[in-house]
Amino acid sequence: MRCRKCGKEAVMNMRQHKLALCRDHYIEWFVERTEKTIRLYKMFRREDKILVAVSGGKDSLSLWDVLLRLGYKADGMYINLGIEHQGYSQVSLEKVKQFASAHPEAELHIVDIKALYGRSIPEFARESWRGQRVCALCGLVKRHEMNRLAIEGGYYAIATGHNLDDEAAALLGNVLRWQTGYLARQGPVLPSDYPGLARKVKPFCRMYERETAAYALLMGIDYIYDECPYAVGSTSIFYKNLLNQLERNSPGSKLSFYLSFLQAKEEGRVRFKEEEAPPLHACQRCGQPTTAPGYCAFCRLVYKPSKEEVEAALEGSTDVEFA
Ligand code: AMP
Ligand code: FES
Ligand code: ZN
Ligand code: ZN
Repeated sequence: MRCRKCGKEAVMNMRQHKLALCRDHYIEWFVERTEKTIRLYKMFRREDKILVAVSGGKDSLSLWDVLLRLGYKADGMYINLGIEHQGYSQVSLEKVKQFASAHPEAELHIVDIKALYGRSIPEFARESWRGQRVCALCGLVKRHEMNRLAIEGGYYAIATGHNLDDEAAALLGNVLRWQTGYLARQGPVLPSDYPGLARKVKPFCRMYERETAAYALLMGIDYIYDECPYAVGSTSIFYKNLLNQLERNSPGSKLSFYLSFLQAKEEGRVRFKEEEAPPLHACQRCGQPTTAPGYCAFCRLVYKPSKEEVEAALEGSTDVEFA
């Protein structure tokens, strides 16, 4: 197989794009496609300060790398969740630190959940959720901390490493249950439509997981190969496998599943009504927007307010209409 651009030996054959490329042309193609995605969905501009959420995996480290290469002002944020199983958090932290030390032009923020809030994610789960649904609890904590840091640090947007496989699997899950509220909001950009709520963007939403992995490999980015131990056996992994089967028989189907959905929404051919949004107000403790009365779900988890405290907080609560 030869590179379509220069005729040298190709290292990457992408049946979904009917395109084979050599190392240098693959890297060039990958960086350009990310830039085009950022522009296509008007994610952010050169002058905006971006916070990249880096987990130590191939997607988020590659994303940070590409954004810096393109000259964006991109700082990193790593959340140490305190997952000790197979040294998961420790190893991923090392990978992130190693990357950051090679890029002194960017700042790395490390948020240590146990140091800040007294318990690690597994400890929170054991204490409050009977050890169940660790990933859901972890998602709640990560969203809260990403939002907090982005707002405190004056960042224009949070960029996550979600790739096409992640987005297509999420779409499949939402379609299987016709979760219209989620379908209404699913997309490459989640705007900041309320004060204190950070904008979220996914510049790799058009990149196959295989493509981000190839980029990391070819660039020599050292990342953690293992999935989070709590994700093993999750439905999202099952959906990814289903979509991979489909992709093998019909290359490009994953991409068209996702992009046609976005296009149909954009052109108004399908419309999903967002659920009647409950009014948002600032959490009485941390100030982040929440629909919960008084304390947000994160603060209830961490600070466990008594019934009296919740009631006292509610007394002074001023609900603001959802814009
Ligand atoms: P996941 O939910 O694990 O598939 O991760 C999706 C995205 O969330 C990653 O690409 C990262 O951008 C971000 N992320 C996940 N875990 C962390 C973490 N511990 N610290 C910072 N960002 C994270
Ligand atoms: Fe949070 Fe897996 S990354 S539980
Ligand atoms: Zn070439
Ligand atoms: Zn709160």
